[in-house]
Amino acid sequence: MRLDKYLADMGVGTRSQVKQYLKKGLVTVNGEPEKRPERKIQPDTDTVCFRGEPMAYAEFEYFMLHKPSGCVTATKDKVHKTVLQYLEGASHKELFPVGRLDIDTEGLLLLTNDGALCHALLAPGKHVEKTYFARVEGEVTEAEIPLFDKGLDIGDEKPTAPAKLEILNSDEISEILLTITEGRFHQVKRMFEAVGKRVVYLKRISMGGILLDEGLKPGEYRKLTEEEVQSLKG
Ligand code: URA
Repeated sequence: MRLDKYLADMGVGTRSQVKQYLKKGLVTVNGEPEKRPERKIQPDTDTVCFRGEPMAYAEFEYFMLHKPSGCVTATKDKVHKTVLQYLEGASHKELFPVGRLDIDTEGLLLLTNDGALCHALLAPGKHVEKTYFARVEGEVTEAEIPLFDKGLDIGDEKPTAPAKLEILNSDEISEILLTITEGRFHQVKRMFEAVGKRVVYLKRISMGGILLDEGLKPGEYRKLTEEEVQSLKG
């Protein structure tokens, strides 16, 4: 791989910025200063340093986005802003979202270029837990907990798998946590419809053991830590 591409892929800067850095002598390969952008390197065996810091070539990248309401979980859209537009400049890889959130749903969305992990997390047999915080019109009562636990008929071929309902506040507008292990279309909203209630606000707060970083405001993102990536792979 060309050295300038490698450095750009690592997020050091654009290809033209990288060329400037090379000219200035900020890059070494195996301890020797290297100024040629076309220099071929082996990411697995060559040690490339930028400003004296060795770079570990990351083939795969993993991000969490605090998805705001009003954007679509798609890579392209003619009308609405896409979740990927919030990560512009974050990576030179082709990232894609792990699963979908509705346009009006907020919260944790993972994005990666690791197709195998994405596939594994979404596979129906994997039962990856996703927890949502929701505000629901009307009083949600203890009597509904076993209904969610048993599985609900939401109009699909099969009822939903058992889901854990936790009531935080039961009032005109109730607040709940719901943990599901599937990812059906509009699943949380349709589960509440099945018990005659309407979700008025929905936010995903965790997926596969990864918690939404509450330090991230809607629209902000960060890379997953190594521990978070390992726990997803576990
Ligand atoms: N369930 C829904 O109804 N919507 C989402 O965005 C996610 C889960």
